[in-house]
Amino acid sequence: MKKPQEELAIDGGPKAFAGRTGVPQPKIGVAEFLSVAERFGFKPAVLSRLRRTLSDADLLGQGPNLARYATAFPPATKSDAFEALARKKFGVKYALAVNSGTSALHAAFVAAGVGPGTEVICPALGFAATAMAVVVAGGVPVFCDVDESLGIDPAKIAACITPRTVAVAPTHHWGNVADMAGVMKVARRHKLKVIEDCAQGPGAKYAGAYVGGIGDIGCFSISAYKIIGGGEGGLVVTNNERLFDRIRQMAEAGGLWRPDRFGPPRYKGELFAGCNYRLSELEAAVDLIQLRKLDQICNRFRKVSRRVRRQLHTYAEINPQTVVDTRGYLGYMLRFFPATCALSAKLTAALRAEGVPAHTRGRKHRPDWHLYRDMFPVVLKGGHTPEGSVFKDPRYLKRGGKVEYRGACPVAEDLYSREVTVWLDQWLSDTDADALGLAIDKVLGAYCTRDPNAKPWG
Ligand SMILES: Cc1ncc(COP(=O)(O)O)c(C=O)c1O
Repeated sequence: MKKPQEELAIDGGPKAFAGRTGVPQPKIGVAEFLSVAERFGFKPAVLSRLRRTLSDADLLGQGPNLARYATAFPPATKSDAFEALARKKFGVKYALAVNSGTSALHAAFVAAGVGPGTEVICPALGFAATAMAVVVAGGVPVFCDVDESLGIDPAKIAACITPRTVAVAPTHHWGNVADMAGVMKVARRHKLKVIEDCAQGPGAKYAGAYVGGIGDIGCFSISAYKIIGGGEGGLVVTNNERLFDRIRQMAEAGGLWRPDRFGPPRYKGELFAGCNYRLSELEAAVDLIQLRKLDQICNRFRKVSRRVRRQLHTYAEINPQTVVDTRGYLGYMLRFFPATCALSAKLTAALRAEGVPAHTRGRKHRPDWHLYRDMFPVVLKGGHTPEGSVFKDPRYLKRGGKVEYRGACPVAEDLYSREVTVWLDQWLSDTDADALGLAIDKVLGAYCTRDPNAKPWG
């Protein structure tokens, strides 16, 4: 028998679905929190204690939302707090938390106008991510040789400039700041944007100013392998509002940040497609605390470095790394260049025998993504499709683009093979640091000629 048609609710009938009876559970809750605690490395006994204390899932209410735009997270997200602290610390107007240093660089290059047919000058020593981000943005990296600071040699930048150059991207190499006065002078003369790669030097200073805010855009990696960071994270800073718009356009899903997401462009070129490079709140929670610790970490490294250096004499066969700014230098590595690779090998073996954590490479070293010639994803000039190589892009070729990487930066290749590195540790006591310095000097004194006129330790 056919059921009589019930009156629709819209016409005054009863609601067919009067409400739910299922009780919602938080999407993520105590189990996920404990999983984080496990990843933090707490011992099993502590984890059991935590598990016992946190067994009541109701305490969480709706549960957390670890995305930065979670409206239910009062009063501000960890990403907001991280950015606010970054602005204050680095003395910049704008800061954006992103999910890696590579994302930071990509957004920065896009913002600076890097695209097909353009070039960016990158240092021959640094990390492949800088040059790769240029390629991902559609541009072509041109490597500039370094000097004994291991940073980009400002005297060689002009020779790398072509009509296609839009930016120069100095890396603050392992805590030793690049010669920013030299870089800025040539960049301003040629109207190039300066993108500082601060991944290896957060907290380093040049002429009293934190790196990152000296050029047009500063990019940081805040990762487990850097001096601050927990897992994967990054940061972009700038003082230029228009550049910041463009950085967010790239990193914030093509316009999520805009006051009216669907509004028409407020100025020519405002809208273009972007990615989601946002930092997770989980990571931001860690990175906020890490950033608060930055100055203490830097000061501990500086103190150790100073004490080690104080023990060292100068030697005819040894050129210490040039320290561009002795007060701003982070000093988490002691580096020097013996006259030959053979001497580097001898010194390294003797240093290690003394218990000093020293390292050298030699002429035929393993490929290393910190040296331009080994950055194969770039220097082999490939593309992600057969036609997708930026090096073969008709827009590049039409502008006369042609880049030769082999042998382009002989100083970097030479210094990188001769260099001896001693890793320093912020937790060395004064006694440890003095003893380490004396151990290094003992070895140098045994193999080299003391010379008060030789290049001084920075
Ligand atoms: C100089 C430099 N730039 C960029 C990066 C890339 O950072 P991330 O690993 O966070 O993407 C690194 C990481 O090693 C680096 O050393």
